[in-house]
Amino acid sequence: MRISYSFKQVIEGNDVKNVFQCPKGTKDVLPEEQVYWQHIEAVIRKVVRLYGYEKLDLPIFEETALFQRGVGEGTDIVEKEMYTFQDKGGTFLTLRPEFTASVVRAYIQQGMSSLPRPVKVWSIGPVFRYERPQAGRYRQFHQFNVEAFGEEDPALDFEIMQVAWHLYDMLGFRNLSFQLNSIGCPICKPAYLKRLVDYYRSRETGICDDCRKRLNKNPLRLLDCKTESCRPFIASAPPMYEHLCPECNGHFNTLRSYLDTLKKTYTLNHTLVRGLDYYTKTVFEVWAEGIGAQNAVCGGGRYDGLVEILGGASTPGVGFASGLERIVLALQQQKGSVPPPSPPLAYVSYHGPAAEKKAVELLAGLREKGIEAIMGFGARSLKAQLREADRRKAVFAVLLGDLEMARGETLVKKMDGGMQENVRWDDLASVLMKARIP
Ligand code: HAM
Repeated sequence: MRISYSFKQVIEGNDVKNVFQCPKGTKDVLPEEQVYWQHIEAVIRKVVRLYGYEKLDLPIFEETALFQRGVGEGTDIVEKEMYTFQDKGGTFLTLRPEFTASVVRAYIQQGMSSLPRPVKVWSIGPVFRYERPQAGRYRQFHQFNVEAFGEEDPALDFEIMQVAWHLYDMLGFRNLSFQLNSIGCPICKPAYLKRLVDYYRSRETGICDDCRKRLNKNPLRLLDCKTESCRPFIASAPPMYEHLCPECNGHFNTLRSYLDTLKKTYTLNHTLVRGLDYYTKTVFEVWAEGIGAQNAVCGGGRYDGLVEILGGASTPGVGFASGLERIVLALQQQKGSVPPPSPPLAYVSYHGPAAEKKAVELLAGLREKGIEAIMGFGARSLKAQLREADRRKAVFAVLLGDLEMARGETLVKKMDGGMQENVRWDDLASVLMKARIP
């Protein structure tokens, strides 16, 4: 097998080196960006606890057929975007392009239907789609995913939307737009699709080539075509929410009444149809300002037929997923506040091999007592080590020079120029601990 790879040529002195790059559409999350990720994950954990959702971890790959059947054969995800491979046993596997199908698979396989209803779970982790990379659109990205099973009550749709709302509120997001629609159920959707197809047939010559294909294959997707010339047709297309059956209409109106009562502002968007086949009734997205064309930070809705499609007993479900890279982008864009990284309390510096040995010993003792402490390693001057302590934003430098070694002491210096005192080795941990309390 011939393996091609992409690299970048880097000039170092007289040498030209070929340096590997991360695969297209993936990114490294460097230590300085971790504050955002850790903050987001901490807020997610608070929110799911508030709403009573339990964590569910799932495999990163599943059998390909699960997504073909779950997400839908005609969707872009299944047709064009899945990372599929055959393992050494000949099984076709796919890196998960989303969570919902996997969550439903686990719900059925693990007998979760016997748990008290609704069964409410959340997951977090990487997902993979072979898409055209651009700002906010990656081939490996991360989702926070929430699902609730076993309840048709629109109050649960509202709760799911509230989880998203609460999360973005706690992250301090401004200028979000909640987009809402109902795409009906197997009772009202077919008649609506017929109306939509009839509407488009008489306008077929004006629509784009892709839409002509959609007309025969997946007419609902006609409504989210991004081609400029198709926009006027979309704007005057019959809206689904005016063609709902009494059951779907009642469900949608009750959900809207909850949103109105709790003063949650949303936009009724009849072109919101979502790119996955499993949705019924409620669909929603959250759009953020200022993060470019890929502005959906969240998408979700109800999928009352999916458990049955995947082999379980008929069970309603509703959920959403939020893309973490887009949350980070929005936070950075809106200059949202994130807690600063916590610097080490102590940087232990030393002069000479005997002092280094003592430094290793002292550090072990400090860490055992829960004190964040680091050292520099190698034979560097005390001055260079202090510069390093400053660069790493340590609160204290702990010095072990010849004098301190002879006296069984350390010199503890507050890096911002405050206190400076000699501390016996045995007292070091308690002095640092006391000094830590503001
Ligand atoms: P989705 O709309 O395909 O829905 O994805 C949810 C979110 O993942 C998007 O709103 C966006 O924030 C993020 N996202 C999607 N594609 C990319 C990408 N290529 N790069 C970066 N971020 C991306 C689902 O996945 C459904 N499973 C959601 C759901 C859960 N519905 C019901 N339950």
